[in-house]
Amino acid sequence: MKVVPGPASKELGLRVAELLGAEAVQVGYKLFPDGESYVRFDGSVEGETVAIIQSTYPPQDKHLLELCLLSDAAKDLGAKRVVAVVPYMAYARQDKRFMDGEAISIRTVGKLLRAAGVDKLVTVDIHSNEALRALGLEAVNLSAIPLLARYMAEEKGLAGAFALAPDRGALDKAEEANKVLGGGFGWLHKERSLLTGEVRVEEKMLDVSGRTVIIFDDMISTGGTVIAATKLLKKQGAARVYAACSHPLLVGDALKRILASGCDGVVGTDSVPSSVSVVSIAGLLARELRDEL
Ligand code: R5P
Repeated sequence: MKVVPGPASKELGLRVAELLGAEAVQVGYKLFPDGESYVRFDGSVEGETVAIIQSTYPPQDKHLLELCLLSDAAKDLGAKRVVAVVPYMAYARQDKRFMDGEAISIRTVGKLLRAAGVDKLVTVDIHSNEALRALGLEAVNLSAIPLLARYMAEEKGLAGAFALAPDRGALDKAEEANKVLGGGFGWLHKERSLLTGEVRVEEKMLDVSGRTVIIFDDMISTGGTVIAATKLLKKQGAARVYAACSHPLLVGDALKRILASGCDGVVGTDSVPSSVSVVSIAGLLARELRDEL
């Protein structure tokens, strides 16, 4: 197997290749003056299984298209199998038709990936199982939550903290984190307006007075979810509140606004490069890819 570190995940891809002891095929890429993407393999992929590492964080459309170009070109150049390793799977939140007439975006993305020759997808903490199914591909969804929880326990000294899911959809994540932290877990009820995107967290009594709480979620985008949860937790007397996520998209000034809301710190993985991406998922991905060697 050869590893192809895509333009969006160059460092992560190189780390995965190193851990696997596999050859990394360099990729040349650029944008034409009109904004079109260009990629070129600088090494042979003929007869190989290739693992293309390319997260699809913003700009999502560009990163997705680069992935399609790489996969299609790999097949065209004789690769026998393409495994797309997409830690952050864009468009997974549009996994159903919430309002009449909407596109089910993740289904369309799945069609594009299949048409581009992707044989298997490896992703991390995809938004939902519905999204995973809608892709219509052989797919594996890995969890970075134990890595995040271990980081919080060992590097931040937060063993025994309460693990909180900001909505029911993230409950499995709080439960998983609790296996490492051991301080109990719970969840909130969250609603997001389909029209304005505004987040509202329902009042719910939690036993967090004087305690340290860590909010676990798949992603932080605008920060609306973490901010609403932090405010509620602080109101209920939580001593310290942290947020941990697999995909720190942190659009615009999200991080600044989260910290201003009373959150004591944010931690994420290198699925999305950012100032809080302190936990690496390279080992997690390499373990999954070992079978392809
Ligand atoms: C939604 O259900 C997700 O799990 C996240 O809670 C959400 O996408 C975070 O987005 P934001 O940071 O914009 O609230």
